[in-house]
Amino acid sequence: MEHTEVMKPQTLDDLIKILHELFASDRINVEEVQNIMEAYESKPQDWMKYAIFDQFRYTRNLVDEGNGKFNLMILCWGEGHGSSIHDHTDSHCFMKLLQGQLKETLYAWPEDKSQGEMTQKSQRILQEDQCAYMSDSLGLHRVENVSHTESAVSLHLYSPPFQHCQTFDQRTGHRNVVKMTFWSKFGDRTPLETTVSQENN
Ligand SMILES: [Fe+2]
Repeated sequence: MEHTEVMKPQTLDDLIKILHELFASDRINVEEVQNIMEAYESKPQDWMKYAIFDQFRYTRNLVDEGNGKFNLMILCWGEGHGSSIHDHTDSHCFMKLLQGQLKETLYAWPEDKSQGEMTQKSQRILQEDQCAYMSDSLGLHRVENVSHTESAVSLHLYSPPFQHCQTFDQRTGHRNVVKMTFWSKFGDRTPLETTVSQENN
């Protein structure tokens, strides 16, 4: 446990205000961001308007653009929905559970010439209000709602913001660059895209 007192955000808006202050400086204290996100106790009435689900796959819903320093978004995971294995484009990634549980599986970066199955490093279940940290230096990950009965909602902060990432084939380690899109922005459904895009985070 930290001995320094962590301010407790009472609402999501309160948390966003504190995040703006933390990211105003150019140095990011990972532990401080993680602690403040964890300290916020999820209240559905705070984030319901951003939690727009899709029947077929998980959705990314933009909540705040963090003054250009970070993107804050809510991901909605239906039963059985999951991401592919992906990287984080040299950004910091914070992931806090607002509702339900998510399984996170960590993988090692594939060796340059390897063609085989990717190496799994660890696995954990993230619980409600828990905040995980991820970055390229820790490896790659896949996130899944493995529940067949419960949906899951998570709050993600990426700093600096990014629009592309790489996805990896578990069997071969082969990678693809994918563009990421938003299902909604600030609570409004994004107009339908003309191209089908893969989404990840
Ligand atoms: Fe991720």
